[in-house]
Amino acid sequence: MQGLKNIKTIGEFEYQDKVVFLRLDLNVPMENGKISDETRITASLPTIKYLLEKGARVLMASHLGRPKSREDKEFSLEPVAKRLSELLSTEVFLLDEVESAAIKHLVMGMKKNQLVLLENIRFEEGETKDSEELAQELAKHTDIYINDAFGASHRAHATIHALPKLMKNRGVGLLIEKEIQFLDQLIKNPSRPYWAILGGSKVSDKIAVIEKLLDVVDGFIIGGAMAYTFLKAMGHQVGSSRIEQDKVRFAAEMVERIKARNKSLLLPIDHIVSTGIKNVSDIKTIKEVNIPEGYMGVDIGPQSIAQFNAALKNAKTIFWNGPMGVFEVPEMAKGTFAIAKILSEVDALKIVGGGDSAAAAEASGYASSMTHISTGGGASLEYLQGDVMPGLEAVRYKHGR
Ligand code: 3PG
Repeated sequence: MQGLKNIKTIGEFEYQDKVVFLRLDLNVPMENGKISDETRITASLPTIKYLLEKGARVLMASHLGRPKSREDKEFSLEPVAKRLSELLSTEVFLLDEVESAAIKHLVMGMKKNQLVLLENIRFEEGETKDSEELAQELAKHTDIYINDAFGASHRAHATIHALPKLMKNRGVGLLIEKEIQFLDQLIKNPSRPYWAILGGSKVSDKIAVIEKLLDVVDGFIIGGAMAYTFLKAMGHQVGSSRIEQDKVRFAAEMVERIKARNKSLLLPIDHIVSTGIKNVSDIKTIKEVNIPEGYMGVDIGPQSIAQFNAALKNAKTIFWNGPMGVFEVPEMAKGTFAIAKILSEVDALKIVGGGDSAAAAEASGYASSMTHISTGGGASLEYLQGDVMPGLEAVRYKHGR
């Protein structure tokens, strides 16, 4: 079951003096011990503020990265606790153990406007194993469980899945509510014309979403490295572009299915190429669809941008997931940033999938003109694909509320 049916939202509980276990996705990118993008932290603030205003005792938990053991100190949530504290002008205690007596002691002793954040929950072996034991320990002193970790809700992990299943009072926070409201507009009665812009390196990551969106969109625009697999499938020369040989057949079938359904498919008609993704000095523009031997596509060309622009001009719904080229290299970023600019000029519902696309929208300078940028990379794709989301199913009431 998709959507928020039979799921309680944050406004449906009484919080005064209640202990709330708040699962967040504070898995932010870090560079040399510093947070390089705090979007997931700022996106979590409305729910935290709401709970504090309602007088709750808030115990927050999140993962950060994929640590192998507790000794992997670079995965500590300490910088995140510090930043939360600054942003909320409140004290945030980082609690290194999940033992229930320690939690009780700290949470019960908390003054108004103080918060507790558990240290990286993946330091606990039981987290990724969806451990019942860990969940029981955490449930002991919890009155209400709130999941606001949209970006991690496709994971059946203990604080996302096993724990809420033990709780009578369970629901979702403001971020999840917002994410679902926007993503649902992409699959339920979208305004038309509706275009999906897909990019990024791998066709394999996008197969399920392409199949799902085939039913709802009017057309696909495909760029990024995955476009070369499609071009190869259509018999074009792709030089040494990074294609997925084992997905060429799927791409060919997809081209046929898109045609058979009378939907549009736009692929790059010209390219920015180089001899390698690091070889900036060898970059050149190829003014046709075929890429010569020895060169690989690293971005879409100017004619492709113009063609995509013409198609998107009248769009009413746009879903964008995946960059058009190697946008981390400035010389290979023009196509991706041009898409962001085009979107900024179109009067449509514009939803950007998380992960790389969110980073690209941010880097382009046009992030603020998007309707919604999802905080979930894998999670937003899995939701759109119609996959079961353990983090939503675990809070859903089976027999109504
Ligand atoms: C993400 O960054 O997509 C989420 O935080 C989930 O992280 P994971 O892929 O390590 O489970």
